[in-house]
Amino acid sequence: MRSSSILSVAALLPFAYAQLNDLAKAAGLTYFGSATDNGELTDTEYTSILSNTSEFGQITPGNTQKWEYTEATEGTFDYTKGDVITSFAANNSQLVRCHNLIWYSQLPSWVSSGTWTNATLIAAMKAHIQSEVTHYKGQCYAWDVVNEAFDDSGNYRTSVFYEIIGPEYIPIAFETAALYDSNVKLYYNDYNIEYAGVKATAALNLVKDLKARGIQIDGVGMQGHFIVGSTPSLATQSANLKTFIDAGVEVAYTELDIRFSSLPPTSTGLTTQSSDYVNTVQACLDNMPGCVGVTIWDYTDKYSWVPSTFSGAGDACLWYANFTHHPAYDAVTSVLASYSGSGTAAVATAAATTAASSASSVAVVATTLATSVKSSVVASSSVAAVKTSATSAAQVATSATSIAVASTLATVKSSVAASSPVAAVKPTSATSIAIASTLATVKSSVAASSSVAAVKTSATSAAQVATSATSVAVAPSSSATAAPSPADDECDA
Ligand SMILES: *[C@@H]1O[C@H](CO)[C@@H](O)[C@H](O)[C@H]1NC(C)=O
Ligand SMILES: *[C@@H]1O[C@H](CO)[C@@H](O)[C@H](O)[C@H]1NC(C)=O
Ligand SMILES: *[C@@H]1O[C@H](CO)[C@@H](O)[C@H](O)[C@H]1NC(C)=O
Ligand SMILES: *[C@@H]1O[C@H](CO)[C@@H](O)[C@H](O)[C@H]1NC(C)=O
Repeated sequence: MRSSSILSVAALLPFAYAQLNDLAKAAGLTYFGSATDNGELTDTEYTSILSNTSEFGQITPGNTQKWEYTEATEGTFDYTKGDVITSFAANNSQLVRCHNLIWYSQLPSWVSSGTWTNATLIAAMKAHIQSEVTHYKGQCYAWDVVNEAFDDSGNYRTSVFYEIIGPEYIPIAFETAALYDSNVKLYYNDYNIEYAGVKATAALNLVKDLKARGIQIDGVGMQGHFIVGSTPSLATQSANLKTFIDAGVEVAYTELDIRFSSLPPTSTGLTTQSSDYVNTVQACLDNMPGCVGVTIWDYTDKYSWVPSTFSGAGDACLWYANFTHHPAYDAVTSVLASYSGSGTAAVATAAATTAASSASSVAVVATTLATSVKSSVVASSSVAAVKTSATSAAQVATSATSIAVASTLATVKSSVAASSPVAAVKPTSATSIAIASTLATVKSSVAASSSVAAVKTSATSAAQVATSATSVAVAPSSSATAAPSPADDECDA
């Protein structure tokens, strides 16, 4: 029976799609991504994985869209290096989280040590945002408009912007960014806001304040630079994401890495790192669709920022420096796989309901015709009469099934295009396709038969297959009356 081999194929699907971005999308996230940087792109072993969209559907330029690169001299804009990253992403059809517009760090000295008045610094800030957002218009999924504006006590962090302009620099930055790309998501991005506390409250109040004033803010990025063994729990992170989502923004983990404070890691440490990664990724999965994705802050220890920033620390990524996986990679793919289809279950259910409803009229009529053809076949005595009846039975079955399959596939296709409910829809379409193929075989064996008994047997099978095909494809509706009509045999797998 075909159905057993279909089940085996379905059981293999999780292994066939066992990479981060494929699994994240099947679960209902928009992407799984990685930060990168220009110097690494000459490493072909590195780029072969970074460009693999089964692993990464999104890229963040780690440095080269920052102010010190893009406007090192006042009024002279240079996007050469940032463009290399967006070009890499475009070549691979990957989303880009553009990063960042206003941050206290990595500023050219003409900004950080300039002589400013409130008005001149606002003008410089607006000119920078206007140029950069305009340059990258249409290329960014999101912009980190303001990065790290609060200190760990929840107060505004000291910066040239805060000192000269005051807290208004943040709303001004968001309002300005909104003017130059109406389709990009505008994010506030920070660390130590992944759990409830004074800093998360400060970020939340910023969101509420901007929204209350009608200023566009679409998302909050939780950076997620964690330490093995002190990563916030699943419950803590999940509740925190929900608090932000309830304030009317989407959320994402934007810079996830989980470092060991000292090296080398023990095997117990690696197990802890796995569960720490799972806590974070699962917190996002538990908050779909408000949580849209997870970005790791580069994928391999070979290019991690950790060792040069935190002395003695490292091994924070999902791949080791030699491009083999940390155990945490398998833990992350497992948790993503376990959520397959869940983020879009409602979409898949709606697709199935629509398909069933449009096919149900066909099913009822086809079942009736198949039954009457079956009795006329059983009552026939000449080979020619039986062959004619049997062929009609098979044709009715084929067209009923094609209509059901075509209808299911069309609906499934658009729902897949919209949201990738792979796990939910594959079994349905696979079954319909298998039934259509079985009917075609029955039909040719009827046409090839020469004895009445053989033809009767084949015709009876055809009628039975027709009945079961339609009952599998749909839940029959007693009110449906439309007649079956010829349909294409086309079945897109
Ligand atoms: C992506 O990576 C997976 C896992 O290593 C591999 O099976 C697949 O062939 C890669 N795809 C491409 C296009 O290289
Ligand atoms: C993207 O593709 C173009 C055309 O093939 C190529 O010239 C360019 O170097 C690629 N960009 C990157 C960053 O690989
Ligand atoms: C700077 O100017 C802006 C815009 O007029 C204003 O909202 C803000 O309060 C001013 N800052 C200071 C420190 O005066
Ligand atoms: C890769 O690096 C890791 C971590 O140092 C090590 O445990 C592993 O044995 C290495 N694998 C290979 C194939 O070199």
